Amino acid sequence: MFTKLNPATAHSQDQLVWKVLFDRQTALLHRRAAPAFAQGLAKLGLRREAIPDIAELSATVFEHTGWTLAPVGRPFEPGAFFELLAERRFPIVTRIRPMHAFDFSPQPDLFHDLFGHVPMLLDEGLADFLHMLGQAYCAQPVGSPAREQLWALYFFTAEFGLVQHEGQPRLYGAGLLSSAGEIHHCVNENTPRVVFDLATVLRTPVTGERYQQQYFVLPAWEQLTECVAELAGLLAMA
Ligand SMILES: [Fe+2]
Repeated sequence: MFTKLNPATAHSQDQLVWKVLFDRQTALLHRRAAPAFAQGLAKLGLRREAIPDIAELSATVFEHTGWTLAPVGRPFEPGAFFELLAERRFPIVTRIRPMHAFDFSPQPDLFHDLFGHVPMLLDEGLADFLHMLGQAYCAQPVGSPAREQLWALYFFTAEFGLVQHEGQPRLYGAGLLSSAGEIHHCVNENTPRVVFDLATVLRTPVTGERYQQQYFVLPAWEQLTECVAELAGLLAMA
């Protein structure tokens, strides 16, 4: 499914995929993305012209929030993924989708990770939230309902979350920021977008649907970190 990629010597086809995706997403995200995304993108200096160097981006992210980026060959199982989050490390898949799968990548690829996740890692609130989630997940027994609930919380925030900003829901989940199809589906007037409620999110199953059936909207950005305090009491009880 994926073409092998070394960012330093990336094939021109990979560079083209990056450039076209970058242009399309930045146009689509104008006035649709959360302010933290645009701020992160500017601080990173991501450009359409070239796939960025992961080590350089990692150094910039470290300066801002103490996180580093860990290049990996393919997406991880949740257990290994959350172990990295607990160490303030974020895995970056070093392969980009091929042109024939341009519109839809069923698994995270380099564009999803670098364009969707990394700008948000420069936001202190989201960075601390992900760290806490990694620690909480690793503290729960393997196969426990609490781990499923924490996976759901990660999924409906860092992957597909929205936040209210100046009266409008804005996108901050990487699965939205990196996918034109998911954005169009999410902003459709017939798609349910409900107010974020921690207990509800914890009991909402993660499905393998191509697009999400509903999205959760934080009333305010601060609520992402504030919900951590009530998390312990709700785990396995939601
Ligand atoms: Fe992701």
